[in-house]
Amino acid sequence: MNKTFYITTPIYYSSGKLHIGNSYTTVLCDTMKRYKKLRGYDTRYLTGMDEHGQKVETVAKELNKTPQDLVDYLSNSTKDLWKLLDIQYDDFIRTTEKRHKKVVKKIFEQLLEQGDIYLGNYEGYYCMADESFFTKTQLGENNTCPDCGRKTKLVKEESYFLKLSKYEDRLLKHIDDNPDFITPESRKNEVVAFIKQGLHDLSVSRTSFDWGVKVVSNPAHVVYVWIDALSNYISALGYNTDDDSLYQKYWNGDEVIHVVGKDILRFHAIYWPIMLMALDVPLNFKLFAHGWYLMKDGKMSKSKGKVVYPGSLIEKYGLDPLRYYLLKELPYSGDGIFTPEDFIARINFDLANDFGNLLNRTISMANKYFDSKIYKPAKDYFDVDKELKDKVQETIDLYKEDMDKLKVSSAIQNIWKLISRTNKYIDETYPWVLAKDDSKKLELNNVLYNLIESLRLIGILLSPILINASKELFTQLNIPKELQKWDSLNFGELEKLTVTNKPSPIFPRLDKKVEEEYIQNLLNEEMIIEQNKLFKKEKI
Ligand code: MSP
Repeated sequence: MNKTFYITTPIYYSSGKLHIGNSYTTVLCDTMKRYKKLRGYDTRYLTGMDEHGQKVETVAKELNKTPQDLVDYLSNSTKDLWKLLDIQYDDFIRTTEKRHKKVVKKIFEQLLEQGDIYLGNYEGYYCMADESFFTKTQLGENNTCPDCGRKTKLVKEESYFLKLSKYEDRLLKHIDDNPDFITPESRKNEVVAFIKQGLHDLSVSRTSFDWGVKVVSNPAHVVYVWIDALSNYISALGYNTDDDSLYQKYWNGDEVIHVVGKDILRFHAIYWPIMLMALDVPLNFKLFAHGWYLMKDGKMSKSKGKVVYPGSLIEKYGLDPLRYYLLKELPYSGDGIFTPEDFIARINFDLANDFGNLLNRTISMANKYFDSKIYKPAKDYFDVDKELKDKVQETIDLYKEDMDKLKVSSAIQNIWKLISRTNKYIDETYPWVLAKDDSKKLELNNVLYNLIESLRLIGILLSPILINASKELFTQLNIPKELQKWDSLNFGELEKLTVTNKPSPIFPRLDKKVEEEYIQNLLNEEMIIEQNKLFKKEKI
C-alpha cells in the first residue's frame, strides 16, 4: 500500500479578496502535494474558507449584505483564483457547511462534558481583524493589537473557557519529544518561549454577536472562531461521524502537515494540539510556519493601497512565472519582498535566459546537426560528461532532502545550479566546433544526449513547481510518458528520441522597463478598482 500524505492550508478569512501573500501558502501546499504524488504517495490536499466570526458579520453589514451572501461570494471568487493557479486540492471546506458545524458542536459539547471547557466571565481586549484576545499588558500604545497594530475593543461578557494550563506540560513534552513537530527551528523556539511564560485558559465563546456555530447546550453563546476554524482539519475528514474512513486513512496515516503563516502559528502550535489532546485524538501532525511576503515599505495591506493580486500577473505573464517567483523568493525561515523589478528579473534571467534558452539551444542543435534524432552514447567522451552526471545526481539527492522538509526555495536554487552547470557544459564541449568535423559525430551526439538527458531530469524535478513549462519541455523534447516519472529519475534511462523540429521559447524575454512600469501601474490601479468593486459597485 502507498504511504499517505495529508496536507492543509489555513482556511482563509471570508472578509476580502486574496492577494499573493495568502496565495503563497496555497501554491506551496499544491507543490508539496504534486511532489508527494510524483513520489507515489496517496495524497490528500485540503483547503477552504473560515466563514464565521465578528469580522465577517461586520463587513457584511457595511456592504448591506447578509453574512451568508458575503461568504458565498468570497468562496466562489477564491475557488476561481485556485483554478487560475491550477491548484490540485481534493477538498474545499467551508465552516458554514453542515458537515463542519456538526463536528464543531460535538467537539464543544464533549469538552464541556469532560470539564475541559467551563463557564466563566471574560474581561479583556479583542482584536477583530485577527479574531484574537489580549490582556491589557499585552497591548501596544492606546490599547492597540500587538500583532497588527489596530485598535482593540474592551470586552466584558460571560464566556466559556478552555483549560489550556492543564495541558501545558504535556504540550512541552510533545514538542521536546518530536523535534520536527514545528519547523523552522526558530519558530519552534518562539512557541516554546511563549508556553513557558505560562498559558492562561482561553475564552472559547462569545455572546455579543451571532454569526457562528451556536453552543448546543447554551445557544446564547457562539463558539470562538478559532476553535471552530481549527476543527476543519478533521471535520473535513469526517471525524466523529458515521463515515470516518478518510479520517482513519489520512489523519491516522503516515504524514500530516499543516502549513501556516508565522502570524497564526500560536493558534496551531498551542490551541490546536491542546484541543486534540483533550479529545484524545493522536497528535499526528507537523507544523510548517512560513514567513510573509512584504512590500518594499512594509506589510501588504489593502487599506494602505499596497497589495498585489495574482490574477492580473497570471493574465499578463502566465502561471509559471508567478508560481516560480512565489516559491523561490520566500526564504525558508524569513520574509520576502515583492518588487516589480525582481519579478521581471526572475522571468528574464532565471526562466528565459538560463532555463528557456538552454532548452531552445539544445533542440535547435539537435535539429541542425542530427535532423532531430539523438541516441544514447556507448560511453563518455569527455571528462566533463562525468562532472555533469555527478551534478545531476547531487541535485536529485539535495532536491529530495529539501522537498521533504518543505525547503522549496532551496530546491529551486539547486535546480538552477544544475541548469547553470548544464549551460556551462555547452561552453566546455564546443558543439559548434565538433559539428565542423565529420569524424566527431559520436562526440557531438554524446553532447546533445547529455544535454537532453539533463533537461529531462530537470523537467521531472520541476514538474511540481513549473507545471506548464515542464509539460512543454517534455513535449518539445518528445519524452515518452514513462520517462517523465519519478522512477525514471536516473541519468541514462533514455535510449533514443526525436525532438520537435519546431522549438519555441517557453519563456519569452520581456522588456524590463516597460513591464516594470506595467506592474507598478497595476498595483496602483488595482487598489482603486478593488475598493470600488468590493465596497461600492459590485453586486454580491
Ligand atoms: N482564518 C485564519 C486561519 C484559520 S486556519 C484554522 C487566517 N486567515 S487569513 O486569511 O488571514 O490568513 C491565511 C494565511 O495567509 C495565513 O497563513 C497567513 O499567514 C497568510 N498570509 C497572509 N498575508 C500574507 C503575506 N503577506 N505573505 C505570506 N502569507 C500571508 O489567518
